Amino acid sequence: MNLYLNGRFMPLEEGRVSVEDRGFQFGDGVYEVVRVYRGKPFRLEPHLRRLEQSCRGIEMGLPEPLERIAGVCRRLVEGHTEAQIYLQVTRGVAPRLHTFPKDAPPTFLAYSRPVTPPAPDRVYRLKVVMDDRWGRCHLKVICLLPNLLAKQKASEAGCDEGLFVRDDGFVTEGASSNAFFVRGGVLWTHPSGPRILNGVTRETVLEVAAACGVAVRQEALRLPDALAADEAFVTGTLAEIAPVVAIDGRPVGTGTPGPVTLGIQSAFRDLTRRECP
Ligand code: PDD
Repeated sequence: MNLYLNGRFMPLEEGRVSVEDRGFQFGDGVYEVVRVYRGKPFRLEPHLRRLEQSCRGIEMGLPEPLERIAGVCRRLVEGHTEAQIYLQVTRGVAPRLHTFPKDAPPTFLAYSRPVTPPAPDRVYRLKVVMDDRWGRCHLKVICLLPNLLAKQKASEAGCDEGLFVRDDGFVTEGASSNAFFVRGGVLWTHPSGPRILNGVTRETVLEVAAACGVAVRQEALRLPDALAADEAFVTGTLAEIAPVVAIDGRPVGTGTPGPVTLGIQSAFRDLTRRECP
């Protein structure tokens, strides 16, 4: 029973949602992805708080109280070790009208799936892509077309991730990750706000950096400054801390993962082991 759909647990293959679901027709919904280490969800509370913020951000109520949703998540991962939980809330099923339906209950689903943890020595190559997303990137909404197009462009160029740059020249984040740069021993990342999704992993990295004595500047960098960084990495729930070795085919620093990145990666792994023993 690895799917919970509108109040019932069932096998994932048995889940059915109407063709008139507003998530399907409009992308009118929000989502979360949570990582499970050794059978325990990592940082579940911040993910659920963000789900609540995303719901509020699109003027939709939570489908169930957060404690109940946390209970659903715990039940979905019973018997799993390394897994992910995907949660999605849409504005429900109604005849197709742009305005919100008056009394459609939200469609709420959550399911778990096993994950293959990233190889310890995996590195990323990035491709710069134009960040032409809307002005509310802090909301984790299911309409991900700009992100999908960016990721596809990156993949077609033989890269692992797209690096979003706005028309004002500032680097924001990855297509499905947050971006960090090391310059002269200081860690730089775009400040939280409407231009990026404030990643749970990003927040964890800020904590880990403080604990490791790494100075942090939450300030946007222009692309040439990012390209000239000594080190770079991207972060995400499933990607964890991925060292970046090249951007648009040009090596970052020495073209191999640097000491600050490796230190943060190792401290992050230790933290997941402590919090999810
Ligand atoms: N994506 N920025 C964007 C645009 C993202 O889609 C994600 C995560 C992140 C990192 O957030 P977090 O550390 O909370 O996972 C930043 C998820 C994993 C996805 O869409 O699959």
